[in-house]
Amino acid sequence: MRKFIILIVFLALSCRKKNTIQNEVQIEIDNHNHNHTHTKLGSSDFPIMPIPYDNETSLEGIALGRKLFYDKILSGDESQSCASCHQQSRAFSDNKRFSAGIDGITGTLNASAIINVGWQSSVFWDGRANSLEEQALNPVENPIEMHLSWSDAVFRIGADKSYRDEFKIVFGTEVITKEMVTKAIAQFERSLISNQSRFDKFLGGKIELTPLELAGYNLFISEKAECFHCHGSPLFSDDELHNNGLDLFPDDGYFFVTSNIHDKGKFRTPTLRNVEFTAPYMHDGRFETLEEVINFYSDSIKSSTTVDPLMPNDNGGFHWTQLEKLQLVSFLKTLSDTTYINNPEFSNPFAN
Ligand code: HEC
Ligand code: HEC
Repeated sequence: MRKFIILIVFLALSCRKKNTIQNEVQIEIDNHNHNHTHTKLGSSDFPIMPIPYDNETSLEGIALGRKLFYDKILSGDESQSCASCHQQSRAFSDNKRFSAGIDGITGTLNASAIINVGWQSSVFWDGRANSLEEQALNPVENPIEMHLSWSDAVFRIGADKSYRDEFKIVFGTEVITKEMVTKAIAQFERSLISNQSRFDKFLGGKIELTPLELAGYNLFISEKAECFHCHGSPLFSDDELHNNGLDLFPDDGYFFVTSNIHDKGKFRTPTLRNVEFTAPYMHDGRFETLEEVINFYSDSIKSSTTVDPLMPNDNGGFHWTQLEKLQLVSFLKTLSDTTYINNPEFSNPFAN
């Protein structure tokens, strides 16, 4: 089999110079029918996105993953897709404290937003999955989510000629496996990159922030709030697990993974990008508004044994004035990226 590889490297210059998206596109053509176009995902202001060696990204893989993400055939009664709980208009989260699966049963965790997940080294609130490929195995079979056995899911997908053709192009075979399904979904999830917030435009020198927002930013990066240690730029998450002091007797969190008592109450630091769109907040969705979150950090931090040393654990919080609270909330809203929640490339491909 002769293989011709044409390597085209180009830089797609976006409007803002500092924030160009680098695309390296590799087109593989051979005499079999699995031509696909490799693509490199990233953002020039972010670290390099780690891609698993056995799941290189291709444009066709992203498109296939997008279909699967939005396809209700992946749930038992064909009533739910991944997007039922991960809605683009809410930065791929939903507005429920606990989302119900197809059988109407709810869990105890808030549906995570999916934003820049390609940079995460672990997934789920308690960090129990090590990759997006591994994560996506869970919701399909989970009885409180889509509740469909993988053998049935793969059978349904394989019954569809256009899916078979697409799997052939992306993976070189029509014999579909659950691993191939989750690989494609993971490719789509990695393409969900948010880097066009007003804050990004401010950093790139394109726009000014209001005095209120700027004061909030200065507070955010100061010792009067300490936010930046865990929610630092550019990803606004340190990719670590911490106990931020929600409860005197915290939920398990990372303890579920390690069985180490020192990990009790530790949860993954969520990104603050698009946080305006992802209410309710925290692993159990206990806060409905950003004002409630700020009031918590100001006045209600609980000093359990595993609370993070950065949290003021003797007097309940940072004790900000009303004005400072307003400044912080205003700054958090500068992290909203309307191009992200409106990007047609991320939307439901079945809606005509
Ligand atoms: C019934 C609602 C529901 C459905 C359907 C659903 N999810 Fe989720 N998703 C959740 C909840 C709740 C969490 C948080 C669970 C946890 O952390 O243990 C979550 C977490 C995630 C995360 C982790 C994000 C992070 O930052 O750690 C990813 C990725 C994800 N889901 C992808 C998917 C994919 C892919 C599908 C479809 C195959 C899907 N979800 C279907 C509710 C849902
Ligand atoms: C020690 C690390 C740490 C510091 C410092 C910290 N956070 Fe957090 N933050 C977290 C963790 C961990 C969570 C998730 C906790 C949970 O759900 O149990 C979180 C959750 C949040 C959420 C909810 C996001 C969502 O999607 O549910 C917001 C908003 C937030 N933090 C804002 C802030 C602000 C503002 C500051 C500064 C005042 C701050 N954080 C300081 C670790 C930290």
